[in-house]
Order: sequence, then structure tokens, then C-alpha cells
Amino acid sequence: MERNEFIKSLGLGVAMVCTGACFSACGKKSDTPEPIQPNGGGVPSGTTASVDLSTQLLTVGSSVTVNSILFIRTATGNTSTSFVATQAVCPHQGGALTFIQDSNYIQCGLHSSRYTTSGSVLAQPIGGGTTSALKVYPITVSGNKLTATA
Ligand code: FES
Repeated sequence: MERNEFIKSLGLGVAMVCTGACFSACGKKSDTPEPIQPNGGGVPSGTTASVDLSTQLLTVGSSVTVNSILFIRTATGNTSTSFVATQAVCPHQGGALTFIQDSNYIQCGLHSSRYTTSGSVLAQPIGGGTTSALKVYPITVSGNKLTATA
């Protein structure tokens, strides 16, 4: 075999091996499922968070996150029915959740999934995957102190 022929055959062989490896890798499905947040993105049971209503959540539609709990004022007055408290971390992959006052929904900053203030899923993540309903925590109001407990 001439040197030129040998080099050509060597190059063809290397190309076939590389192509085979690429096809094999591309056709393989991931062994790991899409990551989701531990505890669905919710805080550990027993976690509490409080808001001082004399300085925060003064207007309907305002919101604040404390200890990974998202508080939203949904009505006037300082009673427990005037507020909701949900997890502030998206169940999908852990994006930060924000209340969008103009649209009256909670939205994830990472893949734009959307939730009602009662935690139901309005829109799944953009780009694929699925999310689940938000945890909604019981709240109490004592004087100017609003508290949620997971
Ligand atoms: S992390 Fe929230 S939609 Fe993906």
C-alpha cells in the first residue's frame, strides 16, 4: 500500500468512528429526569415568616417575599382573608416567583410559568417541562403582624 492510500484509509476510518460515536450520543435519551425542586420548591414544614403591616403590603396588589414565602395583599383591611401566602420558589426548577399585579397572577422569572394567587397552574414553563401547583400557606393576623406558617 502506498503511503497516500494508507493515509486516506486511515482518515476514512477515523471519520467513521467519530460519526458513529456522535450518532450514538445524540440518539441517547437522558438517564436523569428533568430536575425539580426538593419539597416542590416549598419551604420546610414549620417554617414561619412575618410581615409588619404598618410598613409593608399597604396597598392591594402589593407583595413581598420573606423566608421564601411570597405574601400578596389581595383586598383591603387587615384580616387573614385580605392576604395570601405561597411558596416563592418555582416547583419546576427553582426560579423566583413574582406577583404581577396588573395581570393578577404569579409568574416565574426563569421559564415564565404562571400561577393563580390560590396556587393553581395557569401556564406551563416555556421551553418544555411541567410544573405543579404552588403550596399555599395558612396565615394569621395579630395586630399589625401578618404571619404565614408552612
Ligand atoms: S423554574 Fe419556574 S418555570 Fe422553570
